[in-house]
Amino acid sequence: MSPDAPGHADRYAVIGHPVAHSLSPAIHAMFAEQTGQQLVYGKLPAPRDGFASTASEFFASGGSGLNVTLPFKQEAAAWVDVLDKAAGDAKAVNTISCDPGGTRGYNTDGLGLVRDLTENHGIPIAGARVLIVGAGGATQGVLRPLLALGPGSLTVANRTVSKAEALVDSLSHASRGVSVEVCAPEAAAGPYDLVVNATSAGLEGVGRVVSGDAVAGAVCYDMVYATGPGAVTAFCDWALSAGSPLAVDGLGMLVEQAAEAFLIWRGVRPETAPVIDALRRGAPPV
Ligand code: ATR
Repeated sequence: MSPDAPGHADRYAVIGHPVAHSLSPAIHAMFAEQTGQQLVYGKLPAPRDGFASTASEFFASGGSGLNVTLPFKQEAAAWVDVLDKAAGDAKAVNTISCDPGGTRGYNTDGLGLVRDLTENHGIPIAGARVLIVGAGGATQGVLRPLLALGPGSLTVANRTVSKAEALVDSLSHASRGVSVEVCAPEAAAGPYDLVVNATSAGLEGVGRVVSGDAVAGAVCYDMVYATGPGAVTAFCDWALSAGSPLAVDGLGMLVEQAAEAFLIWRGVRPETAPVIDALRRGAPPV
């Protein structure tokens, strides 16, 4: 679908490089149908060095809102006129709205993860011993929302340990008395209640991102997702084989963060369960 809308429907799009395989247009089309909202939502590919010009042109031509995906989330945080608190903390923006006052940047990824964990899967965070693997933008976006739920402890493990240290150092007051530690992936011994994979290793088909001891007995969550009936991510597949009793992927997080963006733009929060179900069954991309 083109981001150039026919008629007077409000226009939205996901901007990224690449965006060809994004599920966001399918998700927002289902949200719009479900809530009776008149809008069109397309894909807005931008050159690697063309985020600002592409986004400016979209809004100058009357666009109402953008979702921002890789690799532009950090650049978007520097580009918007006003930053929401969560986006400022994460130094990354995944949702932009536009009103007469200018562009406003939000980050709904952390809330999306927390909602999928706690509400869709019934996985408690309060008091839990949580390990997050990875120290890139994905981790930065979710650390504070996880800490806000009061885990018993939080450990950040990363291949490059200094990046995990820098991330934890930047938390300052956000740790709210929670014990926050850093370690190398092979040194993460547990026991943990919850292990979250926030690395991009799955893009290379790598599932083993941490020691087997860390996932044995722990519920595991992969921030990336697999689509289609029976599809499993590399991390979930490995974690189950290493003794995790339950490993879930991040499709629900994707839909939940989209629902938060829809709420920001349209003032109504759609039901997410039917959309997650449809995508699991392999709903055709828009
Ligand atoms: P994102 O914004 O998706 O988090 P990123 O900022 O490039 O992407 O971060 C990618 C993360 O995945 C990093 O923590 C990276 O580890 P390093 O900091 O050591 O580079 C981690 N990562 C990528 N490939 C990995 C692999 N094969 N094994 C383990 N960790 C990996």
